[in-house]
Amino acid sequence: MPAYEKLRSELKSSPRTWLVTGAAGFIGSNLLEALLKLDQRVVGLDNFATGHRKNLDQVRALVTPEQWARFQFIEGDICDAAAGQRACAGVDFVLHQAALGSVPRSIEEPAASHAANVTGFLNILAAARDQRVKGFVYASSSAIYGDDPGLPKVEEQIGRPLSPYAATKWMNEIYAEVFARNYGFASIGLRYFNVFGPRQDPEGAYAAVIPKWLAALLKKEPVFINGDGETSRDFCFIANVVQANLLAATTTNPEALNQAYNIAIGERSTLNELYAALRDRLACTDASVKNQKPTYRDFRVGDVRHSLADISKARRLLGYAPQFQLGEGLDLAFDWYRQNVV
Ligand SMILES: NC(=O)c1ccc[n+]([C@@H]2O[C@H](COP(=O)([O-])OP(=O)(O)OC[C@H]3O[C@@H](n4cnc5c(N)ncnc54)[C@H](O)[C@@H]3O)[C@@H](O)[C@H]2O)c1
Repeated sequence: MPAYEKLRSELKSSPRTWLVTGAAGFIGSNLLEALLKLDQRVVGLDNFATGHRKNLDQVRALVTPEQWARFQFIEGDICDAAAGQRACAGVDFVLHQAALGSVPRSIEEPAASHAANVTGFLNILAAARDQRVKGFVYASSSAIYGDDPGLPKVEEQIGRPLSPYAATKWMNEIYAEVFARNYGFASIGLRYFNVFGPRQDPEGAYAAVIPKWLAALLKKEPVFINGDGETSRDFCFIANVVQANLLAATTTNPEALNQAYNIAIGERSTLNELYAALRDRLACTDASVKNQKPTYRDFRVGDVRHSLADISKARRLLGYAPQFQLGEGLDLAFDWYRQNVV
């Protein structure tokens, strides 16, 4: 039986308590939904900096009243020491997702990114250590690879960071290693590549490419491509990220601890290919978009040109086996945006 299937049946029969920071955000709310559907007890911590109450409301609508009753939400800042201790108390596993995402945001406001992504991270890491949680998993990022030209990206080979955001995520990995060395506190970092799926915010200047384009296409607004469209990414559907988090938090393999892992599908698509894939999906029900073209504009500062993950380390040490390829993920995401955005 694949590792994830086995884990899910074990969790169902023996529920645990989880802390999900950033629970009102995109990835956090998907983790919350998956955990509640497995009858787990979940504590959520979020200050709604970029997350939304409507994400929590949507999860509530997708689970049973009994499952929802196992959720406790704390509105608070991950930088607040008391909130961190309270959130970690009595918890088995921490899935630390709260952070200010987006490379451009971090270039505009480096201090804000540092506060949430480094100070907040350190605070939750220390609280989890103090409360003796059994597993600590945190969101790192493919941004870590910076100016390293190698493809595919392998965990051992990183370059210099290209943005404040990348620097904050690198610092997370450094602190995680230092906590293992100084306090014997084990953790696992997941370097997400471009994640997409339901509840990813399409609004605002810092929206990610898939939700932004899906919303624009559905609203018949122009789609902008930064650069020539040949920039490529390893786009990863959210369900694969949920799987990686659950496997990492509960791993009993000592070799798997105190490491960072690429989490993606291990295939890359260019922005031009992505645009065509999204437009063609919409064209199935709206022929008027069939020949629609995007508008090209300047490359964006701080963006890396190509990104592709080697996911063999996560496969080998965590038993990670992505269940959703790009096309299936885009179909599911498309359905969600069609129902929720227009
Ligand atoms: N989405 C991606 O493609 C991607 C890629 C690489 C890494 N990541 C990382 O994954 C994590 C989740 O990203 P996401 O896409 O779900 O973003 P998101 O913005 O949807 O979610 C982040 C959540 O953290 C909360 N938050 C931010 N600062 C906080 C603070 N100081 N205190 C409490 N809560 C706070 C926000 O309100 C939000 O709900 C982040 O750490 C991000 O850096 C995401």
